[in-house]
Amino acid sequence: MTLTELSNFTAAEFSRICGRSPRWIAAAPGRVNVIGEHTDYNDGFVLPMAIERYTVIAAAPATKGVSRVELRSSEKAGQPVMIDLSKPMKPFAKGIWANYPAGVLAGFLARGISPGGFDALIHSTVPLGGGLSSSAALEVATATLLEAITGRTLDPVDKALLCQQAEHQYAGVPCGIMDQFISVMGRKDHLLLLDCRSRKPEMVPMRDPSVALLVTNTNVKHELGSGEYAKRRAQCEAAAKILGVASLRDATSAALEKARARMDDVVFRRARHVIGEIERTPRAARLLGDSDWSAAGQLMYASHFSLRDDYEVSCAELDAVVEIAQALGAPGGVYGCRMTGGGFGGCTVALVKTDAVDAISKKIGADYHQRTGIEATTFVSRPAAGATVLKPVA
Ligand code: GLA
Repeated sequence: MTLTELSNFTAAEFSRICGRSPRWIAAAPGRVNVIGEHTDYNDGFVLPMAIERYTVIAAAPATKGVSRVELRSSEKAGQPVMIDLSKPMKPFAKGIWANYPAGVLAGFLARGISPGGFDALIHSTVPLGGGLSSSAALEVATATLLEAITGRTLDPVDKALLCQQAEHQYAGVPCGIMDQFISVMGRKDHLLLLDCRSRKPEMVPMRDPSVALLVTNTNVKHELGSGEYAKRRAQCEAAAKILGVASLRDATSAALEKARARMDDVVFRRARHVIGEIERTPRAARLLGDSDWSAAGQLMYASHFSLRDDYEVSCAELDAVVEIAQALGAPGGVYGCRMTGGGFGGCTVALVKTDAVDAISKKIGADYHQRTGIEATTFVSRPAAGATVLKPVA
């Protein structure tokens, strides 16, 4: 579905369920990270792109009171979640989807911006929990909707940070800044090279039709993910402390080697991944900008092996996809492949020849099923634009 079709579908669903037309529609994309994994909370570089999968929200002024917000998800349309804007905001129970929009709403209210009561229907084509930032897409779509309702446009950096805060405080996930930044700042046909320390974005053109980014969803999600994420952050901080630097962005491989004897082996390997990945990411951005697909692909493999062996956030299913892709190799149209996102399941991203996409998808699907007994889902996306306000159709 194109974004316009998706917007029209969501508007029609809103009308059907809420009994009137929406006045506002906002959308925000999910993302795939090409390289630069577990570097954002180490002040490093990331290289994500927005994908053509979106969370769309259609809304209209409330009919039941000026401070009553009713949120519905198209999946659970029967049960709206209610928020009373006249009462202090607080998170719902852990794990409730409405924490994401509620956290964003709380961020707007804390800045003195109130949308007043409204009814909203949320529909998403970003696979939930698939490592493609469905939560950031929901947060950023909510923020974009609130901008449309209130007429107050936030600075893009402030908007992304507000959404990250929502995730920290309302969803209880100590994420970095990558997902929210790309969902806000994505640009069609561009990757985003983001310096997570200065927060300076640099757009890297990626419009050559002869190559494509192929996403494979392993369709597994190992539950240990969230606790392990916080653990990795703590291990990185421990390494930085031993090295005497503010963050691993300031550390070098040579300094790490020197300090090896003063470090527990696990902490050493975590730091080795992060330092290597921070170095690989701007290099990959330059190679992709120069259309040096093979060299960029090699860095993607290096990233995967480092995440698998040193950072230990991969899993058998992700490794299986990367192995299948690597076995196809350049003759089979694959330049590089790696896990993408936080890890412990979710998706891989592969840089491939466009004319080999169908054959590669088939081969990955068949071999992955043979090895794991699980059906993978594959799709290709061009780099998409970031969050946007759409016009409701009459
Ligand atoms: C998750 C987090 C991001 C980032 C990645 C790993 O997606 O939300 O901030 O840390 O993991 O690169």
